[in-house]
Amino acid sequence: MSTTVPDRTDLRDGCHGPSPLTGRIEPWLADVAGRPGDVASWLDRHGSPLNVLEPGPMGRNAAELRDAAAAHGLTLGVYFARKANKALAFVDEAARLGLGIDVASERELLQVLARGVDATRVVLTAAVKPPTLLRLCVEHRPTVALDNADELAALVPLLRPDGPPLPVALRLAPELGPGRPPTRFGLDVDGWLAFVDRAWPAAGTTIAGVHFHLDGYDAGERVVALAQALRLVDALRERGHDPSFVDMGGGVPMSYLDDHDEWTRFWDAHRAGLLREGPGLTFGGHGLGLAAHGDGIVGTPNGYPYAQSPVRGGWLDGLLRTPVATGGPTAAAALRGRGLELRCEPGRSLLDGCGATVARVAFRKERADGTWLVGVEMNRTQCRTTSDDFLVDPLLVRPPGVDPAPDDAAAHGAVEGFLVGAYCIERELLTWRRLRFPRGVAVGDLVVFPNTAGYLMHILESASHQIPLAQNVVLGADGPPRVDLIDRPAD
Ligand SMILES: Cc1ncc(COP(=O)(O)O)c(C=O)c1O
Repeated sequence: MSTTVPDRTDLRDGCHGPSPLTGRIEPWLADVAGRPGDVASWLDRHGSPLNVLEPGPMGRNAAELRDAAAAHGLTLGVYFARKANKALAFVDEAARLGLGIDVASERELLQVLARGVDATRVVLTAAVKPPTLLRLCVEHRPTVALDNADELAALVPLLRPDGPPLPVALRLAPELGPGRPPTRFGLDVDGWLAFVDRAWPAAGTTIAGVHFHLDGYDAGERVVALAQALRLVDALRERGHDPSFVDMGGGVPMSYLDDHDEWTRFWDAHRAGLLREGPGLTFGGHGLGLAAHGDGIVGTPNGYPYAQSPVRGGWLDGLLRTPVATGGPTAAAALRGRGLELRCEPGRSLLDGCGATVARVAFRKERADGTWLVGVEMNRTQCRTTSDDFLVDPLLVRPPGVDPAPDDAAAHGAVEGFLVGAYCIERELLTWRRLRFPRGVAVGDLVVFPNTAGYLMHILESASHQIPLAQNVVLGADGPPRVDLIDRPAD
C-alpha cells in the first residue's frame, strides 16, 4: 500500500452536496481513493460496484466500548452483529479480537461455525427460528435468544434428554412509556415470569441471561430497559434460576460526519428548499421524511442520524453512569452488585470505518429541463438501508486513462446533478441529494461512497434485473485485494 496519503481536502474536491455533508475518511480509504488507477483495475476485474473492505478499525471500535465498561469495573461481552455486513472477513476479525458473534439466521450460524468460532461465543437472535435452525442450535449449542412461548414449544421436542441443557436468554420487550410503541420482539417482565413459572424446569434449557434490543440510539431508554431486565433477573433468581448476563443488543451510535454543524445546516437548508425559500436540495423535492404544509414543515427526518455525539465509548460511559431508578445505583453499580456480565451486539458502530463502495460512471446527460443526470454502474439497493438516503457526500476520482475530449464540457467544468442507477425505474436515485462536481464528471470516473460497511452495502442489496450482486474484496498489506470468502462458496 502506498505510504503517501493524499491531501484529504483534495480528495473531496471532486464532489459534494450544495449543503455539504463531509464524511469521515479513514487513512486507508484516503490511500485507496488516492490510487484511482489501481481501483479502476479492481473494478475491471470484479465489476461495478465493488465493496472494498478493511476490517482493521473494528479493533479500535471494540476497544472503545470495552475500555468504557472496564473503567466502571465491568466486563463487556461484545458480540458483533454480523447481519450488518455479510463478509466473512469481519467474522474472522471479530474472532481474532476475542469478540463474540450475534447471528440472525441459519446460514449466518453455519458460516460462523465453519470459520471456527466456538458456539459458546455465539448468540442467536434470529427473529424467526424455523425447526432446521432450532435443530442446529441443539446440535451446536450457541446461546439462543428466546422470543416467545411457541419458540420454546418448538425447541423442547428437539432437545436431547441426555444432553446438557441448552443456554437461552429471555428476550425482554421493554416498556418505554408513552409515545414509544411496543416492540414486536420478546415478552414483558410479567409475561416472562408467568411463562417461566408454567414451563420450567421441564423446558430442558437453562436461563443463562436476559436480552433486549431497542430501536434507536438513546442511552436513557437503554437504562430504562436495563432496569426492567434487572427486575427480571432478580425475579428469576428468586425462583432458583441463575442468569449471569444482561445483553442490551445493538444500537450503539456512531457518527459519519466530523462537522456536526454541517448536519444542522443541511437540514435547515433542506427545510428552506421544501418551503421554496431556498434552492431545493433533493430530486423532485423528495422530503427525506419532511413535507411542506402551508407555511411550515411537517414530518420527521427519515434517516439515520449521520452526526451523533457521544458515540461508542463516551455513549456507554454515560449510560453506565445513569441511575437505574431515582436515587438508586448507577447502571454500572446495579450490574456489578448482581455480579452480572454486560453484553452488547453492535453491528454498524463496530464496522465504522471498515468499508467503502466504489462504482464507475457510465454516462452523463442533460434532461430536457436542464437537470443533469450521472448514470452509474450500480443500483440503489447497493448503498441504502431502510432510511430514505445515505446522507454523506461521495468522493469522485478520475483514474489515469480516463481522458475525455477537450470539448467534453461536463468532464472539465462544474456540473450539478443527480446520481442515477441501473434499475429501470424513474426514481432510481443512488442518492436523493443534488451533488456538485466542481471539476466535472467523465465516463470512467469513480464514485466512492465512504463508510458503507455497516448495513449500507448488504442489508437491502438485490439482484433484480439479473444484475449480479456486488463483489466484496478485502484489502491486504500488499497487492490487490482478495475476494471475501462469502463470494467464494466453492472454495
Ligand atoms: C437483536 C439485534 N442485535 C443487534 C443488532 C445490531 O444493531 P446495530 O447495528 O444498530 O448496532 C440488531 C439490529 O437490528 C438486532 O436486531
